[in-house]
Amino acid sequence: MASKQYIWHNGKFRKYEDVKVHVFTQTIQYGTGIFEGIRSYPTADGNVAIFRLNDHVDRFFQSAQIYQFELPFTRKQIHDAIIETVKKNKMTHSYIRPFGFYEHQGISLDLKGKKMSVSITTIPFGSYFIGGEKGITCMVSSWHKINSGTLPPQAKVSGNYIASIMSIAEAKHAGYDESILIDATGHVTEGSGENIFLVKDGELITPSKEYDILVGITRDSAIKLAAKLGLKVVERGIHREELYTADEVFFTGTAAEIVAIVKIDGRVIGSGKQGPITKQISEKFFRLVKGEDEQFKIWLTKVY
Ligand SMILES: Cc1ncc(COP(=O)(O)O)c(C=O)c1O
Repeated sequence: MASKQYIWHNGKFRKYEDVKVHVFTQTIQYGTGIFEGIRSYPTADGNVAIFRLNDHVDRFFQSAQIYQFELPFTRKQIHDAIIETVKKNKMTHSYIRPFGFYEHQGISLDLKGKKMSVSITTIPFGSYFIGGEKGITCMVSSWHKINSGTLPPQAKVSGNYIASIMSIAEAKHAGYDESILIDATGHVTEGSGENIFLVKDGELITPSKEYDILVGITRDSAIKLAAKLGLKVVERGIHREELYTADEVFFTGTAAEIVAIVKIDGRVIGSGKQGPITKQISEKFFRLVKGEDEQFKIWLTKVY
């Protein structure tokens, strides 16, 4: 990958290819990394801005808090290091990956007293779903969503993503673009790395917090944008069949941004194209990340 890039690693910039860990590293063995996914966008005034940086930094520390991991940096240090990394790598459209992990080697599961490392990597990044403008197809996975009694979904911990990886493998094998996970009670939770919304009779409906979702930052943005558009948003439990009979369904997420779901489990959703409400929210979202919406400029952190 991008060999001219730098990675911020424990307070210093190092060349991309020089940041290496040993195969016996604790986090590689057991999935004990915590991470964030953040985007930067070029803005209409010729600058570059990071979207909802403070909220992502807060969630990074929340992940550490849930797992009793001690990050050896302050929020401000991580916040500033993210801006510096985007700058150093001259990023415009980028995906930013802060990663907290254990670099020591060994088989022990006991992390008490062990020191965490933090790295920040940036990569140029466009659309997560290639051809996503036309909408994507999804399969409801036979694998259930992890739950807060086992692997708390509110922490972005590497190990949590194994369930997502299994569900994607199943969906891809069956010819779909992405998976949707239900919980053990049959309620819809979210995609493998996205929150889900449905539109029915002009109302937006999304699973509430108790359904073991990651409470996404893009989800929150979509809810606030919808409110500005005068749309009603309801957070509640959703049964699988409600997806099939929705007028529109869409995903939100840092990587996915806002993307329409046009087919689920072989059923065409609504018109089979991006619906009018998804379009309205998506257009407003893309104006906002470019700094074209005065009201939401507060969510942008200028880089240059
Ligand atoms: C499991 C999961 N759900 C939802 C999301 C969307 O969250 P956000 O909008 O904060 O990126 C993500 C991505 O971070 C995720 O990994």
